[in-house]
Amino acid sequence: MIKSGDEIRQAYLDFFESKDHLVLPSAPLVPKNDPSLLWINAGMAPFKAYFDGSLEPPHPRIATSQKCIRTNDIENVGKTARHHTYFEMLGNFSFGDYFKEKAIIWAWEFVTEVLEFEADKLWITIYKDDDEAHAIWKEKVGLPEERIVRMGKKENFWQIGTGPCGPCSEIHYDRGIEFGDSSEDVLGGEGDRFLEIWNLVFTQYNYTEEGEYIELPNKNIDTGMGLERVASILQNTKTNFETDLIKPIIDAVVEMTGIDYQEDEESMTAYRVIADHLRSVAVAISDGALPSNEGRGYVIRRLIRRAARYGRKIGFTEPFLYELVECTAEVVKGVAPDLKEQLAHVENVVKSEEESFLKTLEQGLNILEDFLVDLKAENKQVLSGKNAFILYDTYGFPLDLTKDIASEEGILVDEEGFENEMAAQRQRAREAREESSFSSGEIDKLYASFKKEIEAVEFTGYNSLTEETSVIGIIKDKEKIDSIKAGEKANIILRKTPFYAESGGQIGDKGLLKNDNFEAEVINTFEKAEIIVHQVKVEKGEVKKGDQLKAVVYDNRRKATARHHSATHLLHKTLKEVLGEHVNQSGSLVAPEKLRFDFTHFSALSEQELREIEKRINLAVMENYPVQTEEKDLEEAKAMGAEALFGEKYEQEVRVVKMGDYSLELCGGTHVEATGDIGPFKIVSESGIAAGVRRIEAVVGEFALDYFSQQLDTLKQSAAELKTEPEQLPNKIKQLQQEKKELQKELDSLKQKLAGSKKDELLEQVKVVAGINILTAELSELDNQGLRNLIDQLKDKLDSAVIVLASKSEQKVVFVASVSKDLIEEGFHAGNIISEVAKVAGGGGGGRADMAQAGGTKVAKTAAALAKVEEIIKKQL
Ligand code: ALA
Repeated sequence: MIKSGDEIRQAYLDFFESKDHLVLPSAPLVPKNDPSLLWINAGMAPFKAYFDGSLEPPHPRIATSQKCIRTNDIENVGKTARHHTYFEMLGNFSFGDYFKEKAIIWAWEFVTEVLEFEADKLWITIYKDDDEAHAIWKEKVGLPEERIVRMGKKENFWQIGTGPCGPCSEIHYDRGIEFGDSSEDVLGGEGDRFLEIWNLVFTQYNYTEEGEYIELPNKNIDTGMGLERVASILQNTKTNFETDLIKPIIDAVVEMTGIDYQEDEESMTAYRVIADHLRSVAVAISDGALPSNEGRGYVIRRLIRRAARYGRKIGFTEPFLYELVECTAEVVKGVAPDLKEQLAHVENVVKSEEESFLKTLEQGLNILEDFLVDLKAENKQVLSGKNAFILYDTYGFPLDLTKDIASEEGILVDEEGFENEMAAQRQRAREAREESSFSSGEIDKLYASFKKEIEAVEFTGYNSLTEETSVIGIIKDKEKIDSIKAGEKANIILRKTPFYAESGGQIGDKGLLKNDNFEAEVINTFEKAEIIVHQVKVEKGEVKKGDQLKAVVYDNRRKATARHHSATHLLHKTLKEVLGEHVNQSGSLVAPEKLRFDFTHFSALSEQELREIEKRINLAVMENYPVQTEEKDLEEAKAMGAEALFGEKYEQEVRVVKMGDYSLELCGGTHVEATGDIGPFKIVSESGIAAGVRRIEAVVGEFALDYFSQQLDTLKQSAAELKTEPEQLPNKIKQLQQEKKELQKELDSLKQKLAGSKKDELLEQVKVVAGINILTAELSELDNQGLRNLIDQLKDKLDSAVIVLASKSEQKVVFVASVSKDLIEEGFHAGNIISEVAKVAGGGGGGRADMAQAGGTKVAKTAAALAKVEEIIKKQL
């Protein structure tokens, strides 16, 4: 009998494979090329393009088990039997192939014959006007009329965001009255008695951004069965949380806390939240997501914070979620095998996020606590949106966390007020953006006007670095002018140009524009309103609109840039290979003299990883792969596995740059002809630039050679300074450090001796004021540590005393004070004394009652400051 989660999944996929479905692995949780979606949230989500007809599916019938994240009901997660942020959806899909009849008949066959559910426990809902579905259930399946229930759009019309949608029919399982008999325990209700296990969507519309339902060219099928729900029935568990798809995580937490899962409602909720959120977080991170302050990253951050907070309720005060990632990986391995491979990375990310949360939590909790105390004192029940926003904006407290904590005190949060604050902040951000882009909008228009005057500005610089061309326009100080002369600077637009405009991280070309009457240097090339603009300085003569001229790109500079650009592609690919598929480019700069590459990765790269990356790249250079470029259809290019930048918008026609079998990337930049042209590759630095984003700077070709020479020169010079050979440097340095350590030791012991000899001298200077021993002295030859040593020695001799010593140098004076225990009891305090003393010398400081230290800048006042001690003590008596 089928029972475990893995068995159910397999049975499902096998069943649909036997019905000629192509079985595909789950897509990653992070959607590829779908800006409308934060997460893959249904089995059909990765196939939207097949549904709306914009892409051809590899097979007209597909079946998957898809990992999904939905966070709209996050507040209910843990509190109910079935709310999750992470779940698995089994789905069979037809793209213009079979429709309602087969979908319904197969679904029935699967649940009754494969899963062996008793037919009389199953109920069907359909969309109210769907007579066709009604007829199939009644006549083809043979269900009695009363088991087929018509419902409205809310229940039986499936739609999520924009995209494919349509009427649906659902299969529900009646678990019996013992699972609930409330008013919610009815078909379609929220109770635990009737479980909706499978949704069959008859996808026939596309819901557009404009809010229209467009009839799709083909009728499709999209179904979704909740794996966890089916498992809960087959494993006879009360909720989804006790199935083998989640429970092992809960068990692992129980083992850590020793508190029983069913101890009380609150602990149970905590266990469920932790297990659920861990599944989301761990799988999402292994699919490339990282915690951050916006979008997807913020969801991860929120989930980790929510889970950590619930962890506190069952006694965790230190990071602990990361220790559960391994167990989570085991639980989800059937659908998310990658998590096991990325275990260390995921653990690192989770741990460091937990650590940073714990730091801000304390602070935020205190503030919230204050808010709540004030509210109670004023007898109010609602926390203002403004205060909730302050917590969110300044202390990183997610709204749901504030709500959770407030609700424990019976206090509500003004969510509308919070949303208003959020909207106001967004508005401020928007205004700031608009202000800064206003003037550039005007300039855009100016440049765009050239597009109307000509068919197109043609870029010819992929194949050639010179071009006979003509001047279409000249712009100076935001105005179109007709000519410019020697000494002037302006922007020039050419009919055709070999100059590459800055784009995709590659900086713009430089070069010359010239004819018999004129010569200008191009100091930069950029793009405005899809027009290539040459920023020039006229060296001699005059150029007019309409003139013919020759455009010449500086050859060496372009070649050096191309080397760095091609190297960037090799680097991108190699990083993925060495560090993992989570690596994604997040920015780059390609210049003639270096490259800079920013990418997602959590920890600093080890020396070993850096060496490995360099080695692989240099080997790829030596392979001398031909670099080929080709125009392709975007979808075709992606299907070939071409690396595209996340969040980047591409045209339908794209340029693909291929380096043998090593690298394939969408790119409009200029490249070398074969990887051998790149020359040596050397990483110059590696650093972190934001949470989860690293930066590598590297040089190639002659710049790498220069770099090697400089490094060697430094090494040789250092060796010469130390009168040794480069090979001997490490030993020599070790030896010098050892010598230094010994000298330091000697120095310390001399200071100690010096202090000792001072000690006797000083003991003679002890003054007795009203029965209290006071010792003040000024010493110039001791530093702080020396003063402290001396004080310790004096204390040994003076059982009861107030001691204040000063040591001055040219710019500052340091004071150290000590008060013996008996005098502390009488109310004397070293910290208080020293702060008054230091004030006289223009400084400040303080410390403990027995020992304190302070500094001052008015060195000349040292004696006056020390004199203060006696005064203070007298005053206090
Ligand atoms: N796409 C449908 C759902 O998510 C099957 O319920």
